[in-house]
Amino acid sequence: MDVIALDHPTDAQIRQWHKVLAAVHAADPGAEPAPDPERTARRLLSAEPGARRRLWAAAGGGGLAAVAVLRLPGEPGADRPGEIDIRVRPGHRRRGIGGRLLAAAAGALRDDGRTSVLAQVLAGTPAVPFLESHGFECVLTLRGMLLRLDDVPPGRVARLLAAGPAGYRLVRWRGAVPDEHADAFARAKHAMADPAEYDGAPWDAHRVREMAEVVAKRGDDLYTVAALSGDVVAGFTEVVVPHDCTGRAAQYDTAVVPEHRGRRIGIWVKAAMLDWLAGTRPGVREIETDNAGDNVHMLAVNEELGFRVERESMEYQAPVAALPAAP
Ligand SMILES: CC(C)(COP(=O)(O)OP(=O)(O)OC[C@H]1O[C@@H](n2cnc3c(N)ncnc32)[C@H](O)[C@@H]1OP(=O)(O)O)[C@@H](O)C(=O)NCCC(=O)NCCS
Repeated sequence: MDVIALDHPTDAQIRQWHKVLAAVHAADPGAEPAPDPERTARRLLSAEPGARRRLWAAAGGGGLAAVAVLRLPGEPGADRPGEIDIRVRPGHRRRGIGGRLLAAAAGALRDDGRTSVLAQVLAGTPAVPFLESHGFECVLTLRGMLLRLDDVPPGRVARLLAAGPAGYRLVRWRGAVPDEHADAFARAKHAMADPAEYDGAPWDAHRVREMAEVVAKRGDDLYTVAALSGDVVAGFTEVVVPHDCTGRAAQYDTAVVPEHRGRRIGIWVKAAMLDWLAGTRPGVREIETDNAGDNVHMLAVNEELGFRVERESMEYQAPVAALPAAP
């Protein structure tokens, strides 16, 4: 079965791509909300500032049997890992297709001067033995948590909001950060707990705006609540509501800068976010989030708000030198 590069997919190929995602989702529904055809098309066609993407597919069953996306953040040769995502239709597995797509991606990683690659997978799925058989090792465990807003006891959000620490005030914005807070917000972004995701590219006002632009181009809405001490952003939280919101929003970054920790700012900004969304986006019924398994403070904040663990996922990494070569 041939692997084809699909750097400029046609409409028919995008429809086929979507069918693969839908078939994989039907087999592993715990992973994420069901894919939506328009969203698949937008993701395949829109460029992301600061990153390039390579696409491959394997034909089979009268359409596509499998697809793969390689994300290449930063400049070619940059000392940052690529990110691979491979999906094989359940009926076409264990025939070496995943391995062949990985080999195609390995060639592109080498050509781009990358030395390592990351993959995010659900615990207990075939992806784990697949990656381990190709030289990947687990570098991070993530807990997927879900907050059902209907389960939050009445009054809890108001109580948490009223218990905000003295000397801080809340600000909030939709979309890109307002100019007056841009530099302070970028500094606070450095406090994020997940260095693997942000290494090599320091946050600055430009990058913060670019990230907001990526969300807006997908048609989604980014909401941010920040706690200020004077002009300093002491902590913040971000939630993205998809444009086709079917009830579930996604938690993005939350961080409190080190010198302001221990004052319940994290739970305060999150409570303020819930209060804001309840007023402005009543269609949001659930919020999902991923936390590093060793990030005890963030896990405690989320549990106090009512988030419950839904699934465990892992980040795997491999040196490109260990990956299979394309035949
Ligand atoms: C993970 C996935 C991509 C593997 O695709 P695949 O085409 O079945 O993989 P291959 O046939 O190339 O498998 C290569 C080797 O991986 C290992 N492997 C793959 N699936 C396995 C399973 N279910 N159990 C045990 N080992 C497995 C085996 O060593 C296999 O070699 P073998 O069949 O000779 O024993 C596929 O199961 C899938 O799409 N899963 C859902 C999406 C996902 O989680 N993607 C991972 C993100 S990178």
